[in-house]
Amino acid sequence: MKNCTRVREFVFLGLTMDRAMSWLLFFLLLLLYVATLLGNLFIMVTVTWESRLHTPMYFLLRNLSIADICFSSITTPKLLVDLLSESKTISFNGCLVQMFFFHLIGGMDVATLSVIALDRYMAISRPLHYVTIMSTGACTGLIVACWLSGFVHSIVQIALFLPLPFCGSNVLDTFYCDVQQVLELASTDIFVLEMLMISNNGLLTTLWFFLLLLSYFIILLLIRAQAGEGRKKAISTCTSHVTVVTLHFVPCIYIYARPFSALPTDKPIHVTLTVISPLLNPLIYTLRNQEMKSAMHRLRKRVVSNLLTQQTVGPSHLFFQNV
Ligand SMILES: *[C@@H]1O[C@H](CO)[C@@H](O)[C@H](O)[C@H]1NC(C)=O
Repeated sequence: MKNCTRVREFVFLGLTMDRAMSWLLFFLLLLLYVATLLGNLFIMVTVTWESRLHTPMYFLLRNLSIADICFSSITTPKLLVDLLSESKTISFNGCLVQMFFFHLIGGMDVATLSVIALDRYMAISRPLHYVTIMSTGACTGLIVACWLSGFVHSIVQIALFLPLPFCGSNVLDTFYCDVQQVLELASTDIFVLEMLMISNNGLLTTLWFFLLLLSYFIILLLIRAQAGEGRKKAISTCTSHVTVVTLHFVPCIYIYARPFSALPTDKPIHVTLTVISPLLNPLIYTLRNQEMKSAMHRLRKRVVSNLLTQQTVGPSHLFFQNV
């Protein structure tokens, strides 16, 4: 190991070598990225402005939107630039930073999805005590715990990476620094490390996924036993949650729950995880959730009527009205 000069940068092979295909993918992924940003911003604005949505569940959803914006911004802008440039490289430290934030936000995302499940469980199993259990203090504590667990999950991996010697090949057949593929390039025996990574990522997400599915199953059973108005709404909310959870977890499990070996399906799954998953949340909540839909409707009406008043009566009228 004495004469090992550490690689200075990693080279991505990217999604495609083909020029025309690169442009096509560039526009497609740019569209998806802009939709992710706008969709999540829209959720944040709606939750902020609609006082009827000022409940723990929607605050958590707003947290999830922030996480989704960050998550897609870790990989997608670099991917877009790389699609159009000849040399697709990232510095060694840049790669570590990307891995760190990827797992910090990814872990936080998973933890937040779990807190949302917990929130629904409390709302349905303890309706009378719900408000005192999910108090502002408790929710803030849970969100802090989410960030902390993301941090621990991520820092553990980076700590494992730091002492590794990298002096051989520096070519990654992907478009971002994926822990497993970077680990493959280490000039040392990686068996134990790979097992650790699989348990930190794959095993954890798989177990967590089944735990979440089980909890939603129990929630749905509890809802079925209840009678009344809210039942249909509760079922619809929970099925959207289950959809979001499934679509977030399945690509993760596919990528991380097995020892690394290149498969032709890897790149599409990586694109799904990094570009499409962050868009799902707004998509599912805006298209499926009745409460969210009517909130957006009211918000739109309010904005339109404000604009109209402004045009006919002028801004001074609006000013006095607001005072
Ligand atoms: C995140 O969730 C907490 C707890 O519900 C809430 O107090 C906070 O306002 C949320 N943050 C954002 C930006 O939505």
